[in-house]
Order: sequence, then structure tokens, then C-alpha cells
Amino acid sequence: MRQHLRSIDSSLPIGLAAEKIASELSQNAYSITDQFLTPEEVASLISYVKSLQEEDHLKKAGIGKQQSFQIASEIRGDYIRWIDTKNCDAILEPLMGRLSELMDYLNRTCFLGLKDFETHVAYYPPGTFYRRHVDRFQHNAHRVVSFVLYLNSDWVPADGGQLMLYPDDNSTFEVAPVAGRLAMFLSDMPHEVLKSFAGRYSITGWMLNQLKELTFL
Ligand code: OGA
Ligand code: MN
Repeated sequence: MRQHLRSIDSSLPIGLAAEKIASELSQNAYSITDQFLTPEEVASLISYVKSLQEEDHLKKAGIGKQQSFQIASEIRGDYIRWIDTKNCDAILEPLMGRLSELMDYLNRTCFLGLKDFETHVAYYPPGTFYRRHVDRFQHNAHRVVSFVLYLNSDWVPADGGQLMLYPDDNSTFEVAPVAGRLAMFLSDMPHEVLKSFAGRYSITGWMLNQLKELTFL
């Protein structure tokens, strides 16, 4: 897939966005980028994700993988749908293309050894959250970089649902989940999703140091 990227027209050229992301990730272990896609691309992703939710295609997310999977609403309250990155709906292609370009750039500049990414659509109904956690598990240590593209067009602070990053013991960094914003952070950084008071939409994923098919072994 990576060999056949089309060039994607966007307000922020991937080259510049990737350069900024790589330098911020290596300095701070996180990076926030607005307008990662064009407003038109973001608008079509918003209606796509809303229609998945309205047509009941999202399923309650759990914690743990395979045999240890369990629903734990006191830990996370989101609903998700995994994306088949190699055979996805056409509407997702611009995002998948930019993510794989970005992954290649991070490999060339930060030597992260990224091989693949996994990603899902996420919806947090009003009243839900995701308690403080890390994305790099003991039983699945392949997640290296986490990313979240937010899809909330009229977000206001009263809607809540901010991403709170904990880069170290003494600092926090709060990210508003506004449409078109891409948050990235190293997957071993503690973080949480504060309680959302409105429906909260995103596409969330992880760049992996292993092919996705091999992460379950
Ligand atoms: C996750 C997560 C953050 C966000 O799904 O693991 O931490 O802002 N999401 O949605
Ligand atoms: Mn997380």
C-alpha cells in the first residue's frame, strides 16, 4: 500500500506537518496538529462516523485482548469499530494514505522501526470517559505511537471530553478534541479522556513495531 500513495491535496502539506510532528515527538513525546486533513475530508469523515454510530455499527469497547477481553465501563465508556486498513471504505483512504506517509517519515527521521498501524472509529456517548492508562500493554508491547484524529465540529469547553496527557510526574497537557486536530504521543505516556458531556467522535489508532497480524502471537 505504501508504495502506491497518491498525492493528497491538503491545506498543510504532509511534508511540513510530518516534519513538525517528528520534531515535537522527539522533543516532547507528543505533538498536536490542526487541519491534518482538508476541511472537506474532515466533514466527510464526520458524516461517515456519525452514520456508523446511528446505524448501530459501533460496539462497546473493552479492555484486554482475546481471552482477557472484558467490558469495564468504570474504566472506558466508548464504542468502537476497527478499520480494515488494507481494504477500507473509500472515504477513509485520504486519512489512511496520510497516516502511512507520516509513518514512513517518522521511520526515516526518528528511527522508530514502525511497520504497520491499527485504527478504529470511536464514539463516547455523553457521560463517558476513559480513565488514565497507557496504550503500550505488557501483553502487547507493539504499540509505539498513538494517534487520535478528532471529529467534533462544534466542540465547546462545556462539552468536555478533553484528552489529558501526563508527559511526566510534574506536568499535564490538555487537548481539546476539535475537528481536524491530530494528537500524537508515545504509547507509553499515561493519558486519559475526561468525561464527555456531548457525543464525542474520533478515529484513534496506533503505529506498531510489528505487522498487525503478528501482534496477537
Ligand atoms: C484510547 C485513548 C484518547 C482520545 O482510545 O486509548 O486514549 O483522546 N483515546 O480519544
Ligand atoms: Mn489510550
